[in-house]
Amino acid sequence: MERRIDEHLVVRRDGAVVTVTVDREDALGALSRSMLVALDAFLPGLADDDDVRVVVLTGTGRGFVAGADIGEYHGVDQRRFDDYQRLGRRVLDAVEALPQYTVAAVNGYALGGGFELALCCDAILATERAKFGLPEVKLGLLPGGGGSQRLARALGVRFALRLVATGAMVPAGELYRRGLVDEVYADDAALRAGAWDLAGTVAAGAPLAVRGAKRLVREGSAMPLPDALGFEQAVLSSLFATEDGREGVAAFVEKRDPVFRGR
Ligand code: COA
Repeated sequence: MERRIDEHLVVRRDGAVVTVTVDREDALGALSRSMLVALDAFLPGLADDDDVRVVVLTGTGRGFVAGADIGEYHGVDQRRFDDYQRLGRRVLDAVEALPQYTVAAVNGYALGGGFELALCCDAILATERAKFGLPEVKLGLLPGGGGSQRLARALGVRFALRLVATGAMVPAGELYRRGLVDEVYADDAALRAGAWDLAGTVAAGAPLAVRGAKRLVREGSAMPLPDALGFEQAVLSSLFATEDGREGVAAFVEKRDPVFRGR
C-alpha cells in the first residue's frame, strides 16, 4: 500500500516495514517546509503503530536529501527562519525517538539536513556514489538539525569540526571505514536489496525484544555504566516475563521455530 503525505514524500507499507521515500529528484531531495510539516504530522502516528517494526528512509535519483530547501531561506525574516529550524529539529528528534528500528538507505547526496536525518537512524546503508556533508558554512551558516552535535558524538570532535568548518563532502566509503556507515553497495538496486534484507531480518525478530534492544542500547549508552548495566538487567527481566520470552526458550528446547506474537 502506497500513499503520498506530501507532493514529494511517498509512504509505502509492506507488512511490518514502512518505507518513506523522498521523491524530489530535480532538487536532489531538498527538504521544503511543506515536507517537514507533513513529516511532523505523520511521525507521531507512525511511532504509535505497534504493527510497524522497521522504518526505511530513502531518496530518489542522485539525492537522498541535499539539505534544507535553500530557496526557501531566501528573503525570509528571522522569525520565519527560526520557525523553520524549530520545525526541522522537531522532525529530526521525532525520527530519532521512533521506537521502531530505522534504516537510512542513502542513495546519493546526504547533505545538511540529509546527513542529520541519517544520523538520527539506527543503521546507515549507502551506495558508493553517496556523499555526506554539512555544507552550511559555505552559506555563511551552520547546521541546525543536530548535525554538529550528533556527528561529534558519533565520530569525535575533531572529525566533526573538520566537516562543519570546511563544509567538505565525504564519500560513503570513508564513513564506512570510520564506522558510521554500516554497509556500502555498488548501486541503487543493491542498496534496496540490502535495506530490504536488513529490514526483513529485524521485522522477523521477536517484536518486544527488538523494541527493547533499541531502548536499551540508545538510552543505556547515555547513562553512566553502572546505571546502564542495571537498565540492561531490568529490560531483560521484563522480557523473560513476556509470552514471547517463554516461547523463544520453549521453541529452542523443543527444537522448533518460535512463533512470536509481540506479547
Ligand atoms: N535546496 C534547494 N535546491 C537544491 C538544493 C537545496 N539544498 N540542493 C540542490 N538543489 C537543486 C539545485 O538548485 C538544482 O536545481 P536546478 O536544476 O533548478 O538549478 C538541482 O537541485 C540540481 O543541483 P545542482 O547543483 O545542479 O547539481 P550538482 O550535481 O552540480 O551539485 C550539490 C550537487 C549537492 C553539490 C549542489 O546541488 C549543492 O551544493 N547543493 C546544496 C547543498 C547544501 O548546501 N545543503 C545544505 C542546505 S542548508
